[in-house]
Amino acid sequence: MDRRALVGGNWKMHLDAATAAALGRDIAASAASVAARIDMAIFPPYPYLGAVVEAIQGRIAVGGQDVAAEAEGAFTGQVSASMLRDCGCTTTLVGHSERRHGLGETNQLLARKVRQAIDGRLRVLLCVGETLEDREAGQTREVVLGQLEGSLEGISTDDMAMVDLAYEPIWAIGTGRTAGPAEAQEVHEVLRSAVGVRYDARSAARIRIVYGGSVKPSNVADLMACEDVDGALVGGASLQAGSFIEIARATAGLE
Ligand code: PGA
Repeated sequence: MDRRALVGGNWKMHLDAATAAALGRDIAASAASVAARIDMAIFPPYPYLGAVVEAIQGRIAVGGQDVAAEAEGAFTGQVSASMLRDCGCTTTLVGHSERRHGLGETNQLLARKVRQAIDGRLRVLLCVGETLEDREAGQTREVVLGQLEGSLEGISTDDMAMVDLAYEPIWAIGTGRTAGPAEAQEVHEVLRSAVGVRYDARSAARIRIVYGGSVKPSNVADLMACEDVDGALVGGASLQAGSFIEIARATAGLE
């Protein structure tokens, strides 16, 4: 099955109102030829979602960096799936390592977030990834499979049509150190076959598994050449329209 590649830009807690809107406009201005070939999404900070959605003019998807585990209610500081939809989002990250490890979000919590996102008609980009300690202890496979299984608790085969995965080794995020193509491919293959075992062969063939962790214009082509790498989740290099578009163009096979 041919999978349409996906390139996401995770802006994290960067930029201000003016620079976020300007970055959205710059991306929109050069995204057309690339977005015809691959899916693109950006994940701005919550307060700037409205302005960025307006700047992007539907050229590519805009998403939340997180979503609440409940539909509505007394949850101070949380943003629900329907609120994200209201702001023009069509997708959301769930389980980024800065939330799993930085904020202690558990698989059980993340599974509820995945549920809420899907029920709210948002696509989910579910992140998994091991620490350097895990990798050095030979635990990469166990760790990412545990995260995958735990965060997909209660998610059905039909639901999986709304889910993409991001493999982001924590030791490669924001460090300038990237997993080599062979290291990435190995884990992506493990994840894809786990989806096949847990769901079915169709889900395994269909699910997009993108790589994240210090992706740059200079290393993206080698990563994309891997059979099971279906795109990239980009942090630092997504904060400049030029490098983000360059990564997207390389992923789309454009010069
Ligand atoms: P990075 O971040 O590209 O800056 O390493 C990736 C991510 O955390 O999604």
